[in-house]
Amino acid sequence: MKNVVVAAGGSLLRPEIEERSSWLEDLAELVKEQISSGIKLGIVVGGGSPARESIQLVEAIISDVLALDRIGISATRLNATIIKEVFQNSGINVSDEIPVDIAQAVIMMEKNDVVVMGGTLPGHTTDKVAIELAISTNSEKCIIATNVNKVYDKDPRKNKNAKSFDEMSIYELQEIVGPAKHAKAGASQVVDPIGVSLALESNLTLNILDGRNLKNIKNAIQGNVFEGTIVKGD
Ligand code: UTP
Repeated sequence: MKNVVVAAGGSLLRPEIEERSSWLEDLAELVKEQISSGIKLGIVVGGGSPARESIQLVEAIISDVLALDRIGISATRLNATIIKEVFQNSGINVSDEIPVDIAQAVIMMEKNDVVVMGGTLPGHTTDKVAIELAISTNSEKCIIATNVNKVYDKDPRKNKNAKSFDEMSIYELQEIVGPAKHAKAGASQVVDPIGVSLALESNLTLNILDGRNLKNIKNAIQGNVFEGTIVKGD
């Protein structure tokens, strides 16, 4: 069996994506296919709109970033629970509990075909959790499934001339996302810079892609051509 970890951005589950119930059903089918081809999956789910809304609700009252992070973590676990229940309902051998840390997730990954989790501790995002899980389970790669099609040198929503990458080194990615620090609860970047620095230390390959298109995720898991950015670990 080989292991692959997927960071599923929370935006994939919520209103920005049309037909999101069918996305969840199709994700379950994709996961079943991968299991039957001998792949174990760790899926780390982001907080998306429940995280943003809940953090915004109290931002004017609570200034402690760690407290806001804890609210964000609860939202990631809510989304992880949704995915876990959909998988269980489709008969997938997924761990019953949502692990609260990497050590638990590693044990659950040994016992099950699939583990679904959200955040762990304040101070980072679920990208970093996914990268940590990939490293701890000797996974071949970590797929960052988000709602942008590739990594760009600048924010493509603000810069029409932003350049996209099909392939890049992990050093180049670290330069784009900046140093490994946690900006603010709920703040979003293409990949969490803290996660990128962990991937850099461990020479972990990242595949960054638009997860709304499940074929993209499938191709990346299988090592086939996909639309997105390959970030080479060394
Ligand atoms: P996400 O992982 O969803 O961050 O965590 P993001 O980059 O904003 O999200 P997506 O990919 O668009 O969904 C949401 C927030 O929860 C807290 C952080 O405040 C983060 O910004 N969090 C999450 C933690 O503090 N620790 C974790 O392990 C995970």
